[in-house]
Amino acid sequence: MSEGALSRTEPTAAEGAPLLSVRDVTAGFGATTVLHGISFDVVPGEVCGIFGLNGAGKSVTMGVLAGIIPARSGRIVYNGRDVTAMSAEHRVALGWGHVPQGRQVFPQLTVEENLRLGAFTLRRRNKSRYPAVLTSVLERFPILAERRTQLAGTMSGGQQASLAVARALMSEPTLLFVDEPSAGLSPLAIRDLFTALKAVADTGVSMVLVEQNVAFGLQIVDTVHVLQTGQVKLAKAVQDVDAGELGERLGVGRLLGAGIEQVLASRKGDSRG
Ligand SMILES: Nc1ncnc2c1ncn2[C@@H]1O[C@H](COP(=O)(O)OP(=O)(O)OP(=O)(O)O)[C@@H](O)[C@H]1O
Ligand SMILES: [Mg+2]
Repeated sequence: MSEGALSRTEPTAAEGAPLLSVRDVTAGFGATTVLHGISFDVVPGEVCGIFGLNGAGKSVTMGVLAGIIPARSGRIVYNGRDVTAMSAEHRVALGWGHVPQGRQVFPQLTVEENLRLGAFTLRRRNKSRYPAVLTSVLERFPILAERRTQLAGTMSGGQQASLAVARALMSEPTLLFVDEPSAGLSPLAIRDLFTALKAVADTGVSMVLVEQNVAFGLQIVDTVHVLQTGQVKLAKAVQDVDAGELGERLGVGRLLGAGIEQVLASRKGDSRG
């Protein structure tokens, strides 16, 4: 375990207990209810996948988890602690990192300045760790190392996606929330990004990954949750998911295609975390 990680309150949940537990959460805007009581768990070290079509409530779920959108009812428990009413800032201080939908890098700042902002909580916690973390993040994303001084707004979509993930890693998160990292990227850029995300997951960082690109998402998630009109329609270990059922719960029927069956078949052999 790294020095930086030690200086933060580390998860002490009992063995097998979820790191994050979302229970019956509802949320909405004005008279509209968007989330109708959603529940799921994230076990330490696991990549929790949330899939769903446009408007299913995926980003609202992420907003509630980030503490930006209030839960109207239900509970969010992290490591045994009820965080439902906790501010977004305090959640970040718990070791939560966010890669928001649309990346939202600061276009007028350089790559390195963006990374420095991502290290805001790290620098407050343990200032001396910043250079080491910067070095390790830049090693993980060589394209960013090459372009440290380039303005983020002038980078390609794929490079900005890498920067958004890298920026979140600068706080050495225990739990990372990633909202549709693949949106708008070419298949090649998506593949590179998912390779990077998988490598992050392999270091033991727990993750909640929201994706519309089911074929890519299924390659790195441990659990599959399908969200439809603000309800969890399917919740299973990836090994247990059947392509037909997935298409049906997503509401796309057989449109998912044969590629999905191949990915699911390739995951059957993976051992459970
Ligand atoms: N600030 C808001 N005010 C009113 N309605 C909102 C607001 N944010 C989201 N919604 C509504 O909540 C629903 C779910 O939106 P959400 O952004 O969670 O969808 P999503 O699953 O992330 O879709 P996408 O894949 O397109 O990003 C949509 O009907 C959306 O219009
Ligand atoms: Mg969204």
